[in-house]
Amino acid sequence: MTGGRGAVITGWGTALPDKVVTNADLEARLDTTDAWITERSGIRERRVGGTTTGLATDAGAAALAAAALEPADIDLLILATTTPDQTVPATASAVQDALGLTCGAMDVNAACSGFVYGLVTACGLIGLGAGRILLIGAETLSRITDQDDRGTAVLFADGAGAVVVEAVDGPGSLLGWDLGSDGSLRSILYADVGGYLEMEGREVFRRAVRVTVDSAQAAMQRAGVTADDIALFVPHQANLRIIDAAGQRIGIPSDRTAIVLDRTGNTSSASIPLALADALDHGRVRADDLVLLSGFGAGMTWASAVLRWPETDK
Ligand code: COA
Repeated sequence: MTGGRGAVITGWGTALPDKVVTNADLEARLDTTDAWITERSGIRERRVGGTTTGLATDAGAAALAAAALEPADIDLLILATTTPDQTVPATASAVQDALGLTCGAMDVNAACSGFVYGLVTACGLIGLGAGRILLIGAETLSRITDQDDRGTAVLFADGAGAVVVEAVDGPGSLLGWDLGSDGSLRSILYADVGGYLEMEGREVFRRAVRVTVDSAQAAMQRAGVTADDIALFVPHQANLRIIDAAGQRIGIPSDRTAIVLDRTGNTSSASIPLALADALDHGRVRADDLVLLSGFGAGMTWASAVLRWPETDK
């Protein structure tokens, strides 16, 4: 945002189901191997279980606590999810109730790009006068994944990550952003209502690298920065080879890239906040650092944001 009123992230939190499914567990019941999964995706284990409402509520509560806020302080809840617990109402309504929030609540579904779509939306609404927004990415992809399909069962999993976005005087953190979609590609990754995820893995892979690079570069260009300025790249956690290929083309090495997919698998809307929170918890981001978030997903959709990390007094 430019002008007098900006937005900054002041707290974050995560939630993962207790149940760990390792590659060895999958090897025992599918025609696959630990070596294949690790080499082709970078995933070693993932978490499975719970509901989107439950995971989102736990992550949201942790983010509120980290920002030292009460439920009544929040002006809007945005829940990015592609696995709502019900078709109607929005899962955000259940999360609002569980957290005791008294504000508006809505779901955003932009598949794996959903968290960054939600973040840009939150920053825009703060520019319009909202004071504090709770943004959560939460998924239970295991429920829409055919656990007998080795092509998808090894990749998709469950989890949630949340951030509190607060208004500040001045320009705020969001320096540049890019949101995109090409709906003509929706057949390469989809789930019909009540059905399982269907994926053309190779095609998704090929396009994912391209849209991540293009979107990240568009956001950096709008922010007036280059890859050398980025302290931390937080990509969608789908596949380590996609992340490596995109990072190489963007010009950001792996030591400046946040990775959690080895432990989480692909958690769609939750993957970027999970990776961001992990990096923050490990002290990998300092005040004034530039952070590049970049996601892609079904639709296809893509979304990137360049943030200048704020000084925090919390
Ligand atoms: N274990 C062992 N073999 C497997 C397997 C598994 N879990 N899944 C697929 N295979 C097989 C395939 O059947 C194929 O066999 P074939 O050659 O006899 O037909 C072979 O491995 C190669 O398949 P291919 O799809 O070419 O492999 P790949 O190197 O592209 O890796 C993915 C497959 C799914 C890991 C990869 O394409 C990918 O990650 N794509 C992007 C998916 C993604 O990110 N989706 C989420 C978007 S948000």
